[in-house]
Amino acid sequence: MIIGIPKEIMRGEARVAATPETVKKFVKDGLTVLVETGAGENSHYYDEQYAGVGAELIPGPKQLFKRADLILKVKEPLFNEKENRHEVDMMHRGQYLITFIHPASPGNHEMVKKLAGAGVTSLTLDGIPRISRAQHMDALTSMSTCAGYKGMIMAANDLPCFMPQMFTAVGVLKPANVLVIGAGVAGLQALATAKRLGAVTYAMDIRPAANEQAKSLGAKVIDSGVPAEKAMGEGGYAKKLSEEWIQKERETLSKVLCEMDIIFLSALIPGKVAPILITENMVKEMKKGSVIVDISIDQGGNCEITPAGTKEVKHNVTIGGIKNIPGLIPASSTWMFANNVYNLVNYLIKEGQIVLDLKDEITGSILVTHNHEVVHEGAREAMGL
Ligand code: NAI
Repeated sequence: MIIGIPKEIMRGEARVAATPETVKKFVKDGLTVLVETGAGENSHYYDEQYAGVGAELIPGPKQLFKRADLILKVKEPLFNEKENRHEVDMMHRGQYLITFIHPASPGNHEMVKKLAGAGVTSLTLDGIPRISRAQHMDALTSMSTCAGYKGMIMAANDLPCFMPQMFTAVGVLKPANVLVIGAGVAGLQALATAKRLGAVTYAMDIRPAANEQAKSLGAKVIDSGVPAEKAMGEGGYAKKLSEEWIQKERETLSKVLCEMDIIFLSALIPGKVAPILITENMVKEMKKGSVIVDISIDQGGNCEITPAGTKEVKHNVTIGGIKNIPGLIPASSTWMFANNVYNLVNYLIKEGQIVLDLKDEITGSILVTHNHEVVHEGAREAMGL
């Protein structure tokens, strides 16, 4: 089987789907690996390293897409301006694709239909179920870890004061107060990072288990006031709250916002728009010079006035809505991503070929297009099929 690793074409995307380390493992497993020249350069994995472990370097995407049986990518297929054609138009019948597809998202419906039309069997990494045996393939969790860490570093960078308490010859400076709302994978990583930087950390989540985990990282828990039975959905994950409970949560937050130097927003409901927990009026009540980093921006943001994709100062508060934060630590995020993808491919391959067991929970949750059809349940529902 031939694996193809194209260079990512989304503007500013530094990551790549394989490292020299994972290519070496694929080659050892008896697979052929084609890597587009310069594919790993922006995440500091270089052509000579890939060639050194047995990859074949290919000068452009056309030949790579044509020869590969399985394409591994980071982002969904997009229009390649340099080639003046869509990546899907370079793909062929019977080819496999593994990447983040987000097939239910309306902006991707046309592309998903194109994949089905081309006869490509596509598998999406955002569908990996949150079960223990899939943990080592879970790229979404890996990327949340990166976003939590780097997002907090970005917040510290925008803060006009020290994070830790400082004892100086001219007096003592107080440590920063950091509140993380939504203590899932990213939020917990943000809390741990803020703690390491010397801040006093606070956490608020609607799931009691998440608050317990935050506490174990040294954070003080602020009670959201939402009863557990209103907050917990299927499988113990958070569920969408009614406007009445969101309003109660905002009232709780209003009492503490003015004491915070950094507010890190990472509250999400799987598959839904992010709840708005901080309104513009609440921002006006915040400390001058304080910082909001809203990493839930891809799902609309937890703050009403987060600028999507950028950073702005509003009402004397720096509000960051930077997207693709994992791409800002490309060497580490690529390393994690590539290992997750290697583990998934390894799971799907039997005797050198991909064998799909459609009854398997992991395969069933990630399959998007197969046999010329869109089979992903969420995508079908969103497309009205
Ligand atoms: P997520 O990204 O979907 O949500 C982030 C957090 O926001 C959650 O903790 C949620 O309770 C919280 N939240 C939602 N609405 C809120 C509101 N109105 N106010 C405050 N907080 C709110 O969650 P993530 O990070 O993907 O994971 C959640 C849990 O799933 C983790 O704590 C972990 O235990 C589990 N998990 C398990 C995996 C596995 O077993 N393979 C993999 C990944 C996560």
